[in-house]
Amino acid sequence: MTHELLIETIHLSKVYGSGESAVHALDDINLAVAAGEFVAIMGPSGCGKSTLLNMLGALDQPTTGEVWVAGENLARLKDVDAFRASTVGFVFQLHNLLPTLSALENVETPMQGRVASARVRRARALHLLERVGLAERARALPNQLSGGQRQRIAIARALANSPKLVLADEPTGALDSQSGEEILRLIGELNRSEGATVAVVTHDRRVAQATQRILRMQDGRIVEDHRVSDPLEEDLRTLAYSKLGETILDPADAPMQKITPEEETVLRRLVERLRRPQ
Ligand SMILES: Nc1ncnc2c1ncn2[C@@H]1O[C@H](COP(=O)(O)OP(=O)(O)OP(=O)(O)O)[C@@H](O)[C@H]1O
Ligand SMILES: [Mg+2]
Repeated sequence: MTHELLIETIHLSKVYGSGESAVHALDDINLAVAAGEFVAIMGPSGCGKSTLLNMLGALDQPTTGEVWVAGENLARLKDVDAFRASTVGFVFQLHNLLPTLSALENVETPMQGRVASARVRRARALHLLERVGLAERARALPNQLSGGQRQRIAIARALANSPKLVLADEPTGALDSQSGEEILRLIGELNRSEGATVAVVTHDRRVAQATQRILRMQDGRIVEDHRVSDPLEEDLRTLAYSKLGETILDPADAPMQKITPEEETVLRRLVERLRRPQ
């Protein structure tokens, strides 16, 4: 590895409940992410995406296995709150801004207790609001802002303490597609300019394509891990995992019986190749 690892999980598993009702939310995840990488996590509802993100942010503890972030074994942290505040920035779908604080104050909050000077906190918060294009709305309360603007505030807040790791759980989920794309462009820019490692959970293929690496999860496992390359290949891959892809792989499917055996062979070969882990 030429790059320093920012994230490493070793045989990471998380089981909720026990006995008959046990849910294996994470099942033996071994993941390495280099510092500065921009990773998307995709997969069907309930496959463990949020659980994984929570583990990486020390918001929850593994049942078995280890999680290392920025050189720290998260199970051995002396001060979890300090680790979260200094190393991780969270952006969630429901941007949980404090409703009675202005945009500027929301961005300042994480710096309290970490940056002694109120003047410095204010200057940094203003700078971050500029970065997300909202300096002129610094005094606005969250309910005076649009959903996309609130999400940009949440991103500015996540960056307040210059975290090495930014964790975003469906940051564009509640937005229309244009605002969603804007948010994503912003996160991508911050990944490049701040050098932060970013892991973003998303259901949106376009969001995932804007990253460098896509992890696909299923039933608590990482079933695919690939570098984003050619957009055409990404589109084909999306097709391969779609209902159409399932249909092509299902020999008993009625519509597939309308095509010639040669066509069927070619299609099946193509889909199988695209679905093969790389
Ligand atoms: N606190 C909990 N107690 C019990 N089961 C839980 C808990 N949190 C999550 N689960 C279960 O663990 C599994 C993974 O949940 P998780 O929230 O990680 O899914 P997800 O991939 O983020 O789904 P979505 O796309 O719907 O947000 C699910 O089956 C869920 O029901
Ligand atoms: Mg989730």
